Order: sequence, then C-alpha cells, then structure tokens
Amino acid sequence: MNKNEAIGIFDSGIGGITVLKEILKILPNENYIYYSDSRNNPYGDKSDRKINELCENIVKLFIKQKCKTIVIACNTASAKSAQYLRDRYQDIPFIAIEPAYKMVYDYAYSEPTLVMATKGTIESEKFNLLYHTYDNHKTILLPCVGLADIIEEGNKDKIKAYLKEQLEPYRGKVKNVVLGCTHYPLIHDDIQEVLGQVTFFNGAPYLAKHLKEILEEKDLANNMEKKGIIQFIDSSNDEQKKKRFFEILEGKGF
Ligand code: DGL
Repeated sequence: MNKNEAIGIFDSGIGGITVLKEILKILPNENYIYYSDSRNNPYGDKSDRKINELCENIVKLFIKQKCKTIVIACNTASAKSAQYLRDRYQDIPFIAIEPAYKMVYDYAYSEPTLVMATKGTIESEKFNLLYHTYDNHKTILLPCVGLADIIEEGNKDKIKAYLKEQLEPYRGKVKNVVLGCTHYPLIHDDIQEVLGQVTFFNGAPYLAKHLKEILEEKDLANNMEKKGIIQFIDSSNDEQKKKRFFEILEGKGF
C-alpha cells in the first residue's frame, strides 16, 4: 500500500460528507474517493444480507482503485457490515463510524438523552451492545424512518414537518441528542429549533482522530504539502448530487 493512494469513504448517499468534513480538518492533504450509493438509498431499512452485499461491492471498487484505507461513513453500514468486511478484507484497514453514545456516558451521564438513528442501526447487534454497556437509564431510542431520505432529497419543508411531528413530544424533556446517522448533522439547526437547547453528540470528529492515528501507525500518512484531491462517485450518476456534494463541502447550502 502506498502513502499517496486515496482514502475511500462511503455512505448510502451524501450524508457521509459530515464525516469527510471532520476528516478534512485534520487530514487536508490526503486524496479521497467519496462513494455515494444513492441508487440504493436508504440503507436504514434493508436486511443485513443486502447491506453486506452493497458494501462489499463498494469495497471491491475501492480496492481496484488501490485505496489505502476505507472509511465507513454510514452508521447503518458500520453497525451491520464492518465486521463482515474486516473478516473478508484483512489487508486493508477499515475505520467505521458509530453513534457517539459512549460520549454521553463519559460527559453527560446523568442527563436525559435522545438517540436518533436509522431503524437498522437501532436494531443492530453492534449498537445494542454499545447501548447496554453505556445505558444511563434515561435514554430514548428513536428510529427516524425516512429522515435520511428527505435529507438526501434536500427538501427543507418536508424536513421541518417531519421533525416537528417526530420531535415535538421531546421538547424540553431531553438534554443530549446523539446524531446516530451521518445525514443528521446536516440538519442540526432544524433539530435544535424543535427541541430547544440541547447538546449534540456526533462520532465524526473521533473517527477523524482515529483515522489519523491509524495512518500514522501504519506509516500510510500522505506527506504531500498541498491539498489533496477529492473525487466524487455517485452510483446513480446523478450530476445534481455531485453539484450539491461540492456545494456542501464548500459550506454552501446543506
Ligand atoms: N447515513 C446513513 C447512516 O449513517 C444511512 C442513511 C440511510 O441510508 O438510511 O446510518
């Protein structure tokens, strides 16, 4: 594996951009290939077998492109397929996102907490292990069915209506919110608008730190002095999606 090769990063759509943004803050000089699997979006209510199959196809593509490491920037895919992929592709390091529930345990254990994630993540064995290990007994698990889809669509009105209907009952009742799907940090302000003052917990900055440590440990960190290249691939070849991806990356729109 070569230091100058790209880091492959994928999600079921553009949500993983919230992870890429955190990574770029500390690893701006790496090259990246971002794969958005919008043809198969959403992942949140697909079977484990289907998600394994979809993820494996993306991994094969990254390996063909000689990626030096792979970031699973999708909580659902991480929860269901990280182990499956690690077992099959042992030569390439996988860095996988997970809902930042342990952070609540570490920093805000006594406060009522709302975990927002896909149905798939909440029902997964991996998340349940995390949840039962760090349970503060004041936690509500909220499967946000369909939310990632409307974020992907970018329809603000639909998002606001969804959040009002689903989150209004928790207004003033929760202090911590775990953003357990990589699409959700994109609508962090809209969530706050419904819930009032809450503290958000997002695993992405920790993933970024961990990725940097792994690259250094394996002597794979790029030593280029200039900014790296970001290549975007969308499985449905949606030009609009590509445009939106780069706009969000530049801080325009959401
Ligand atoms: N962004 C993904 C996650 O973090 C999944 C969204 C979906 O496709 O359901 O879980």
